[in-house]
Amino acid sequence: QSNKHYKVAVLAGDGIGPEVMAEAEKVLQVVADKFQFGLTLTPALVGGAALDASGEPLPAATLELCKQSDAILFGSVGGPKWTGQAPDKQPERGSLLPLRKTFDLFCNLRPGQIYPAFAELSPLHPRVSSQGMDVLCVRELTGGIYFGEKGRTETDAFDTQRYSVREIERIARVAFDAATKRSNKVTSIDKANVLQTSILWRETVERVAQDYPGVTLEHMYIDNAAMQLIRSPQQFDVLLCDNLFGDILSDEIAAIAGSLGLLPSASLNGSGFGLYEPAGGSAPDIAGKGIANPIAQILSAALMLRYSFGEEDAARAIEQAVQHCLAQHIVTRDINPKSTYGTAAVGAAIVATLRQEQ
Ligand code: NAI
Ligand code: MG
Repeated sequence: QSNKHYKVAVLAGDGIGPEVMAEAEKVLQVVADKFQFGLTLTPALVGGAALDASGEPLPAATLELCKQSDAILFGSVGGPKWTGQAPDKQPERGSLLPLRKTFDLFCNLRPGQIYPAFAELSPLHPRVSSQGMDVLCVRELTGGIYFGEKGRTETDAFDTQRYSVREIERIARVAFDAATKRSNKVTSIDKANVLQTSILWRETVERVAQDYPGVTLEHMYIDNAAMQLIRSPQQFDVLLCDNLFGDILSDEIAAIAGSLGLLPSASLNGSGFGLYEPAGGSAPDIAGKGIANPIAQILSAALMLRYSFGEEDAARAIEQAVQHCLAQHIVTRDINPKSTYGTAAVGAAIVATLRQEQ
């Protein structure tokens, strides 16, 4: 019997958020039982739902709950109802940006996989997708060109990119640590033939690599990486990227994987705290119909167990149960248009698989 106990702020949000979150919560309760840790899941309003209830996309009470918690499990926010809001009241900008800032979530992790049973979902099917893909994109999230000095006049404009050794080091460590739990390879992405920040990036990553003798490091220019990903994605394990390059490559990886409904993400601050959410949005086109794919949300919960709580066995059990259901073609319509399984049926199948396996 263990005395581990984790407190999770559950911010389901808008659109399909509450539908897929309900399934993730069931999965979490089952693994807590099975792997013997305590779990308190406390819901709070965020996004458009919070805006409607309180006039704020991130109410003070929600932020306070997050501060009292060990991790945030986030659904998705936004939708056509709230597009006319002022920027700081927009569900996405008004909730995710302040959360990233408050908790210094400098690291964004996005795994992307091609599942053998569904290789045909990939736009690169069959020549490339049949070789498979299992990559983890590690993206710096709070520095670089998005946050540098910027300005414009009538006739010109500028953005600046600045990275400190400290910023590069901390994101590099996350990538190397992750690689040791995967296939021990890091590909660091830069444009060191042109950019000063990239030269510092490369030097710093080289130095961090010395602490990880078991991990192979390679450097790749961003333009080549964009090309290599569509030619032979199976050559990659962990991709280490700055904010801008990671933004682009993570979406390229999502496209190669084929379905947004399968892709989780994690945003971390290095102290174990993190925000976990599906890579997709609130999917207003299918919200309320009970047909959204819950897997991205469920895999986000698995990432939370791995990166915030160190519950690797529980995380793997969830990932294996998901693979098992995919292999049995228990999937929603985004994966197979002819499927009759809905959100709850897929969630229930994953729960049942977890209960069976000992
Ligand atoms: P989206 O990701 O919500 O939807 C794109 C397409 O993917 C839609 O056809 C949708 O049905 C499908 N899709 C996404 N997740 C799915 C799932 N779990 N199962 C089945 N199908 C799924 O992106 P879109 O349409 O650009 O944005 C919709 C709203 O979501 C907007 O208000 C946007 O601002 C917001 N959004 C929120 C994000 C967040 O909360 N982090 C991220 C991206 C968008
Ligand atoms: Mg993007």
